Amino acid sequence: MSQHSAITGWGMSVPEKILTNADLERIVDTSDEWITSRTGIKQRHVAAPGETASTLSIAAARQALERAGLEGKDLGLIIVATVCPDYPFPSTANLVQFALGAQCGAFDMQAACSGFLYALSTAHQFIANGSVKHALVVGVEVLSRVVDYEDRTTCVLFGDGAGAVVLSASDEPGGLLGFTIGSDGARPEMLWIPVGGSAEPITEASLREHRQYIKMQGAEVFKFATRIMGTAMEEALAQAGMTAHEMDLFIPHQANLRIIEAAVKRLSLPWEKVFVNIENYGNTSAAAIPIALCEAIDQGRVFPGAHLGMVAFGAGLTWAAAVVKWTASLDALHKTIRVIDETKARLDAEAEPAII
Ligand code: ACO
Repeated sequence: MSQHSAITGWGMSVPEKILTNADLERIVDTSDEWITSRTGIKQRHVAAPGETASTLSIAAARQALERAGLEGKDLGLIIVATVCPDYPFPSTANLVQFALGAQCGAFDMQAACSGFLYALSTAHQFIANGSVKHALVVGVEVLSRVVDYEDRTTCVLFGDGAGAVVLSASDEPGGLLGFTIGSDGARPEMLWIPVGGSAEPITEASLREHRQYIKMQGAEVFKFATRIMGTAMEEALAQAGMTAHEMDLFIPHQANLRIIEAAVKRLSLPWEKVFVNIENYGNTSAAAIPIALCEAIDQGRVFPGAHLGMVAFGAGLTWAAAVVKWTASLDALHKTIRVIDETKARLDAEAEPAII
């Protein structure tokens, strides 16, 4: 019998520095009104010098391990999904493995914004076939390093951050119930960084033309995204033997509020079941879903037994979706956190001097 895989730990890390729409108004010819109405984004976090994919990943991973009650040495696998590795090689996962004191296989996975769900479903295979007990899955991006701050059509969209989960073997039915991954590489130029790879090494001329930065055919990507988000989610739901109405929380990739709205309409979901935090982070690519998941948990929107639907699309073009049943074993942890919070609030209130 294949093993169930449950999310037992979660964590996130974003740079302290915030770039608001007002800041961008001073850099390129744009406006808060345009960015907000076309994308839903109000601000994004950007890395300071020295902050990298590995430093953000390590911070998020440490939180996830702590919540899972594990140490690095307990991990059997590390996958880091990113398009912004510290180096072309070695992988960012190698750096994370060493920093955590883990002694397991570690590799990067590249599927752009779909990367986290690609990595989650890959880690699930290792657990389902019994070869790994605990896997760390990280989604991380430092897109501010590959965004052209002279190109208003892209620089307003992206942000930096990391999110991580620990996926653990479990006897309890639940965890990852269904997933789908997809790829259509017919037109890579729809969203890409043209130079810096083996096809076109960086030259002085390419640097002058800013070809080391993200180039995007926004309207084309938009059309693709509005179509694929709904269909990919439906595919993963069908694999889990579920319909959209049975989802308790929909956590879509945070690329554009209008794309999310199209997916929500297609799936006929009420807004109460949708998680959106794009206003605070922009599009953090592979980090967007695990960051959203962390915030949804912190806000009490994930409960034991809840069915979560997650879907993403990205450069490639790629897409991926997953259905996760939040397992009851975390009920105790949630209750503990709630009890600690309530006790702290009560003690704080008692400590306050009475107002006369
Ligand atoms: N501020 C002001 N005006 C702008 C800006 C800006 N930041 N950016 C573009 N414009 C202008 C354009 O130049 C254009 O002007 P024109 O009509 O005079 O030529 C006008 O606004 C409209 O441009 P459109 O591209 O039609 O705007 P649209 O409503 O399509 O929105 C957007 C553009 C937000 C980029 C949208 O197409 C989109 O979200 N696409 C998907 C992008 C995406 O999600 N990419 C990430 C994929 S994930 C990954 O793997 C990284």
